[in-house]
Amino acid sequence: MVQRYGAVSQVETQLQSSEFIVSKTDVKGRITYANRVFYSISGFTEKEVMGVQHNIVRHPDMPRSVFALLWQTIQKRQEVFAFVKNLRKDGGYYWVWANVTASIDAQDQLLGYHSVRRCPNRAVLPAVSDLYAQMLAAEQKAGSKDAIQAGTAILLNALQGQSYENFVLSLQSN
Ligand SMILES: Cc1cc2nc3c(=O)[nH]c(=O)nc-3n(C[C@H](O)[C@H](O)[C@H](O)COP(=O)(O)O)c2cc1C
Repeated sequence: MVQRYGAVSQVETQLQSSEFIVSKTDVKGRITYANRVFYSISGFTEKEVMGVQHNIVRHPDMPRSVFALLWQTIQKRQEVFAFVKNLRKDGGYYWVWANVTASIDAQDQLLGYHSVRRCPNRAVLPAVSDLYAQMLAAEQKAGSKDAIQAGTAILLNALQGQSYENFVLSLQSN
């Protein structure tokens, strides 16, 4: 178990526009590779994250239903885009605009998953934070069994008939 330096804080680290965070996982979501930017922005070392579940950087402000959507999509071998607030080892946070996909070999076998993240459109982060806070509140109110359904209902309402993909892509390119 990795020790954190401190409690969750409001200290943000921003990804530079020239930086990309890359990581790969096995089929169960355990980290098998991360690039230098991942280590510098998250504050973890290679030794601490290798073979560890990717939820090592999960931030408590993130709704469960976002990750449910992520896993449902990548398990269908489709790519998913998402705004994600991640937790640094020191308790601070960093926002990313993430693309996550399945890694498939020439025989169509699933090798694992990989993700590339760059800096999000900062203008929309207040709206995204607000939406995630509403989703999280609905999840907590619904209780563990019904959480995903409750969070997803808030997200569907925010889409106003658009697909999730169009919704997030338009936010990022706004
Ligand atoms: C390739 C890949 C990259 C991921 N990147 C992140 C990430 O940056 N932050 C995060 O919180 N979860 C990420 N996840 C999702 C985690 O596996 C996990 O579902 C999520 O953190 C929620 O944790 P929980 O299922 O324990 O609630 C990633 C998953 C995969 C397959």
